[in-house]
Amino acid sequence: MSGPNTGAPSTGRRDFLKKIFAGGIGALLALFPVGAGLAVFLDPLRRKSAATGTLRVATLEALPNDGIPRKFPVLATRVDAWNKFNLVPIGAVYLRRTADNQLQAFNVVCPHAGCFVDFLPDRGHYLCPCHNSTFTSAGKIQDPSSPAPRGLDSLPVEVRNQKEVWVKFQNFQAGRAEKIPVA
Ligand code: FES
Repeated sequence: MSGPNTGAPSTGRRDFLKKIFAGGIGALLALFPVGAGLAVFLDPLRRKSAATGTLRVATLEALPNDGIPRKFPVLATRVDAWNKFNLVPIGAVYLRRTADNQLQAFNVVCPHAGCFVDFLPDRGHYLCPCHNSTFTSAGKIQDPSSPAPRGLDSLPVEVRNQKEVWVKFQNFQAGRAEKIPVA
């Protein structure tokens, strides 16, 4: 004959559940200091120096007088709370000599949505591989059906020491008709 239900099994189950619940809360609470500590520890990694400025990008020798743009990486020194990183890539530019032997510089980033444009020497224009915007070698929109809202972003360029090509590098917001610098 079975005895009265004493409630012992359900009490045991309750204790078991309480222990699991308490253990879960304890584990969660233990994670908070770890997460907060990690955030503080990693914070300097997120604080990088601005990726702008006038930077030496090429030499005149690397720019034949044929009007064809050449692509060059833009390297800069970046600094965070712990380290200094010398000459890390922060972008790229196209440089060319115009017919009147002036220098022209464009950011390689497409102003439509930020892809890198290619220059096609056989066609004599730039093409963005993402949505087929085309730009003349002078950076203007070539095909009016291009989705890009403006031409390529020109950048100030100058020659120093008779042979060094320096560019004032800057990124601009994509998808806007106006050139708005990215902070
Ligand atoms: S990103 Fe260049 S056309 Fe869309």
